[in-house]
Amino acid sequence: MDGANWNYSDKVKEHFFHPKNILEIDEKEYNADGMGYVGSPACGDMMKIFIKVKDDRIADLKWQTFGCASAIGSTSMLSVMVTENGGMSLDEAWKLTPEMIIDKLGGLPPNKIHCSVLGDKALREAIKDHFKRTGQEDRIAHDDKSRIICNCMNVTEDDIRMEVLEGVKDLKTLQERTKLGTACGKCIDTAKILVDFYVGKYYTEEIYTGNKK
Ligand code: FES
Repeated sequence: MDGANWNYSDKVKEHFFHPKNILEIDEKEYNADGMGYVGSPACGDMMKIFIKVKDDRIADLKWQTFGCASAIGSTSMLSVMVTENGGMSLDEAWKLTPEMIIDKLGGLPPNKIHCSVLGDKALREAIKDHFKRTGQEDRIAHDDKSRIICNCMNVTEDDIRMEVLEGVKDLKTLQERTKLGTACGKCIDTAKILVDFYVGKYYTEEIYTGNKK
């Protein structure tokens, strides 16, 4: 662990050193109702989330990662947030954002924000997997409630926001990753404004503190 990078809140350190809800048995034995698996090209981390669902709520959540301190700290916090007080409903859990987790952690260094997105994405994949296993595919349509910025390539504002959270800092990289603007090109000006907006939002403070200023 590089001591120079320990620009973390006490909450992040607490969850990093004592992570909650790690899967400690074989995943087959756990017998999850939904599993999500994602990797981050930006940091090379991998994350798996397993959920148990009862009465449309998350009754239990376990996770595994090859991740950095931020990925571990934020996923541990996420696991507590979605399971406390009887568990979040699937709809509530679906709407959980990295900002809400970062807020609870007391902030993250900007260059580590992209790692916090892993748990959030894996959770959504696990919920999708549960919907597929239980014949509720229609509920997956929630996915893209945010407005579409690039009609040709079907890229939403939320996709752009998530790309920035994962480390994209300019339009060119966004285009390489999403193909936004590569057909008619009408969306490019709006997309540039949004990239600049989210980069400003997430990467200008020394420690990004979520929604609270
Ligand atoms: S709207 Fe984005 S390329 Fe056409």
